[in-house]
Amino acid sequence: MEVVPLGDADAVAALAADIVESLVRIRPGCVLGLATGSSPVPAYRELIRRRDTGGPSYDAVTAFLLDEYVGLAPGHPQSYRATIARELTDPLGIPPGRVHGPDPELLPDAGPAYEELIRAAGGVDLQVLGIGSDGHLAFNEPGSSLASRTRIKTLTEQTRSDNARFFESADEVPRHVLTQGLGTILEAGHLLLIATGEVKAAAVAAAVEGPVTASCPASVLQLHPHATVLLDPAAATSLARRDHSRDVHAAKPEWQGY
Ligand code: GLP
Repeated sequence: MEVVPLGDADAVAALAADIVESLVRIRPGCVLGLATGSSPVPAYRELIRRRDTGGPSYDAVTAFLLDEYVGLAPGHPQSYRATIARELTDPLGIPPGRVHGPDPELLPDAGPAYEELIRAAGGVDLQVLGIGSDGHLAFNEPGSSLASRTRIKTLTEQTRSDNARFFESADEVPRHVLTQGLGTILEAGHLLLIATGEVKAAAVAAAVEGPVTASCPASVLQLHPHATVLLDPAAATSLARRDHSRDVHAAKPEWQGY
């Protein structure tokens, strides 16, 4: 795992955008895995800014969302499909027909149907990830099987209250979600986790330096051969190996890439 403690949140957004953009330049028909939530938003804005000032075309890109709420009306502004269209895929110009998310209308078969869709697209090349304050990845809450596949999950009260800021009231946050499993996420070619802010520091340390355990779903990143973790100073505060990670990054050979 490559842990990259950066100088500020802007540097995190810029490097995340570099990584996504360079893949799209090399492989215009690549498959991106997209996360919602606030962590990747600055990186998404940076990608849009670059796209509007001479960046690559996203016409041929396919995108798969990590997760989706169950129980919101189709097109609800807080559904992840609507959110990602608004915040990223429409402004980038990824055709709406190429943007996929787990579909609650297909329950109880929504999980296997989504897995098949990802398989048919050839799998996800680059998966953007955030991390929950309780260590959740996508909506895989603590206790999720490390081998899990896309399925329905019940949110913890912690996550419901973390996400209440996006809704008019806490009661409106759905209890159920569909989420790619940890086993599904591990099949992506490259995992790119973005974490900013002190509220993520403990979860980041547990995920990166703690044991691999279902109690911290994001620790599953340690099992992946190509995982990159971009952190601002606040999110990196609890890392015991933070200084070494900084040294590694400062001494990174130019040819190496991410
Ligand atoms: C949400 C999402 C995750 C996201 C995480 C962190 O509930 N389902 O995909 O990465 O929690 O969210 P944020 O980036 O807003 O802190």
